[in-house]
Amino acid sequence: MPITTCVFDAYGTLFDVASAARLAAQEPGFGDFGSRWQRVSELWRLKQLQYSWLRAVAGAHCDFWEVTQNGLDWALEATGLQGDTALRQRLLDLYWELQAYPEVPAMLATLKSAGLNTAILSNGAPRMLDGAVRSAGIGDLLDDVLSVESVGVFKPAAAVYDLVGERFGCARDAVLFVSSNGWDAGCATGYGFTTVWVNRAQEPVDRLPWTPPHILTDLTAIPDLVRKT
Ligand code: LAC
Repeated sequence: MPITTCVFDAYGTLFDVASAARLAAQEPGFGDFGSRWQRVSELWRLKQLQYSWLRAVAGAHCDFWEVTQNGLDWALEATGLQGDTALRQRLLDLYWELQAYPEVPAMLATLKSAGLNTAILSNGAPRMLDGAVRSAGIGDLLDDVLSVESVGVFKPAAAVYDLVGERFGCARDAVLFVSSNGWDAGCATGYGFTTVWVNRAQEPVDRLPWTPPHILTDLTAIPDLVRKT
């Protein structure tokens, strides 16, 4: 079935989650964070995602802002930085204005001019997503921003992927779902979406029952892929 609807994960896919720590590392006043930011950033993301999965499995939902703060607190303590409250606040502030990857605006504009539906489907709380979309200036290029908050459980619960069909009325295989998270792309493949894993970091394929049929290194080729699918 031809693709009618292109749906993007937000964090790590459209927005560079490492940009918060990278930018703070360039600012004065944060001691030797300049040499430690990458470790903090990796642990922050890892724990944020682990907490989202655990809360989904345990039926203990909270919003993504809470797991984002919990993940950062774990990462700061693990790297001996838990006493730096100014750094903690700066990292959290920067999370509301993450940089979009450079290819994002032109890629979305090409999809829109080809008549495709475009949307975000994210764990992010609506107000977080609103901040990121606004600071990246891509609001006009998206038909909708779908948040897990409307179903109260994190990805990869099927109820989250159901939001796309409910919003756009399209069949699962008419959806191109794009994520830089291997687990998200894999589980969305199992759900029945046509999927792309954006493997920016050259990571191994996740060992899940489903493997995304398309693997790219960034988002530039998405419009071409849609044309050929
Ligand atoms: C999201 C996370 C998983 O945006 O990156 O849903």
